This record gives sequence, structure tokens and C-alpha cells, in this order.
Amino acid sequence: MELLCIQSQEHPELPKAELKAVMDCENIDADLCVITDGLVILKDISSDNCEEYYEILTRRLGYTHEVHEIILTSSIDTLNEDVSSVDWSDYIDETFAVRVKRFHSEIDTVATERKVGSLILENCDGIKVNLKKPNSLIRIVAFNDTVYVAIEKIKLNKKHFENSKPHKRPFFYPGSMSPKLARCMVNLSRVTEGDLVLDPFCGTGGILIEAGIIGCKVVGSDIYWKMKNGAAINLEHFGITEYRTFNLDVRELKMYEKVAAVVTDPPYGISTTTGDMDGDDIFKEFFKAIYDNMKDDAYLCMASPHYVDLKPIADEIGFEIVEQYGIKMHRSLTRIISVICKKFD
Ligand SMILES: C[S@@+](CC[C@H](N)C(=O)[O-])C[C@H]1O[C@@H](n2cnc3c(N)ncnc32)[C@H](O)[C@@H]1O
Repeated sequence: MELLCIQSQEHPELPKAELKAVMDCENIDADLCVITDGLVILKDISSDNCEEYYEILTRRLGYTHEVHEIILTSSIDTLNEDVSSVDWSDYIDETFAVRVKRFHSEIDTVATERKVGSLILENCDGIKVNLKKPNSLIRIVAFNDTVYVAIEKIKLNKKHFENSKPHKRPFFYPGSMSPKLARCMVNLSRVTEGDLVLDPFCGTGGILIEAGIIGCKVVGSDIYWKMKNGAAINLEHFGITEYRTFNLDVRELKMYEKVAAVVTDPPYGISTTTGDMDGDDIFKEFFKAIYDNMKDDAYLCMASPHYVDLKPIADEIGFEIVEQYGIKMHRSLTRIISVICKKFD
């Protein structure tokens, strides 16, 4: 079986890296084929696993907008014939709609939606079109001359990322990253349900919320009690109960249990305060403080500004940088997302 993923095109690498990380940590056995920017197909999935994988991907991914099960792969020339050969009663539950999305394709979107809709109606009894709220969504994706006909089986919760934007949370303070990036960073840290995730610069709790939503236990700390309390208020608001928050300087960190991942956005010293440390010192002190609090196979996923070279600091403490992605914020600042693990020679 094959799953078709439509991804955000807001970054050239992060959506694919996030998907790959989730496939790694959830043991999703499939071939990841990048068709073009924004379009990925997971091939060679055994039908026994397809539903489970589908559920995991829709529950976890931030930068993937849609996941569908492919019914058939056709072409612009043979689409009508191929659509007529499908037994649509296997897929459609009373009402349906057909929607077409193009990637570098000349296909006529509106004409194809109408034509495929009418062919499905002709070939299947007892179903109706409902464009506003269909029970079954048939998603057609055209890339060049290739046409994928697929069905959406589980809806992604798109509203969550809109409703959890920093200014919509009960406790707001400037400097919290977008919930999609926070989710992506949690996913890059390769944690799974029940794992313990630490953010030692938790601020308003944006990263902890995303880790909690995918089923992790979370612990956050911040040098300011106001932030620690605010993070707790925000976590409660999103129904997260498995959390602990502490008010402490990162240099005092001593965890009650080693963590499965650290996911964090340290202060850069420009817009956020770093306590009494300056410049690069905060990164060194932070690396030192978390090393012994992380399990040996734990990942650290962190953001940093482009002008801080993490490599020598990581080397000195015993960490290794395994992945890095740049996000251009404005002319003079690129934010670097790094995935880091302990180094063993
Ligand atoms: C960039 S913000 C984190 C934003 C957070 N991800 C959010 O969603 O709000 C950095 C945080 O680090 C905290 N901080 C600064 N210096 C610290 C230190 N030495 N130890 C612990 N926390 C510190 C600041 O109070 C601030 O809340």
C-alpha cells in the first residue's frame, strides 16, 4: 500500500526531515519517495501496518498538511478509464467530494473534479456528492502527467496549530516560536509516547505543549518563576496533565530521572535575558548542565542563531551534531535548528 503526504512548502528540508524522524522512531517500515517539493509518497507498506502508520503520522506531524491512502496511480490520458474501473463502494461512505491539487501539472482542476465526480456517481449506487461536509474525501494529486487518486481516511487536526499560536494561549510573553516549528523540533528529537522530554528554557511552554500533545511526559524549567507558572497555566489549558515545572537557572539543573530528549529554544541574549551569562557562555553552560541528565541514546533538538558556532562547544562537552537546518528569520538572522546526540567513540 502507499500513503501520499502533502507537505508544507514553507521550508525546503524541515517537512521531510520531520517525516523521516517520525518514521525512524516509530519504526515505520516504508520507502520515502520525494516526488517534488511538498509531495512525498511512502511506498511498500504492508496492508497490516497501513492503518497504524496512518494514525501515527496524522497524530504527530506538524509540517505535513494531508495524508491519504493511494487507490490508484494513473495519468491525465487514462484517468477516466481508471476511475471507472474502481469499486467505489469499498471507499465511499454515503457522501463524497473530489478535490484536485496540482504540482507542476497542466490538469484542469475544476473539469477533473466534475468529471471524476460524475464517473464515481455512475459507477456506485447509494452515494451522493456533498461538497461542504463529505464523509469521504477523494483527493486527486497531479504531478506533471501522473495522477494519483487517493482517499483521506483520517483527518489531520489542522485547527490545533492555529488555536495554539502564542498570542492565543492564556499566558503570553513575546519570543515563543510557532507551534508547528515546536512540534517539528519535538519530532526531530525522535521521542515516542510516554518518553520524558525536558525544556530547560521553557518560557511560556510552547515546546512542552507540543511534546505533551503527542503523548510525552514533560518537564520544564525557567530562571523566572513567572515563566514557570505561565508554562503550567498553558499546559493545563491544552489538557496536558503529565508535566512538572521548576523555577531554576539551567546551571542548577539536576533531574530526578534521565530524560529521553531535550528540546529547547535557548535565549540568544538579544530579545531574551540570559540571567547573568553573556553571549556564547549560555550555550556552553547549557550543554554542560544537560549532558548527565540525558539518557545515553537521547537527542537534543535546539534552536540557535547562525552566528554561534555550536560545533566546538559540542565537541568539548562530548556531543555530536547530526542534523542542521537553517531558517531565515530576516536579513541579519538565520535560526539554526540542530539535532545533537552524545558522542561515543
Ligand atoms: C527564547 S525563550 C524560550 C521560549 C519558549 N520556547 C516559549 O515557548 O515561550 C528563553 C527562555 O529562557 C529563560 N532563561 C534565560 N536565562 C536562563 C537561565 N540561565 N536558566 C534558565 N532559563 C533561562 C528566559 O526566561 C526565557 O523564558
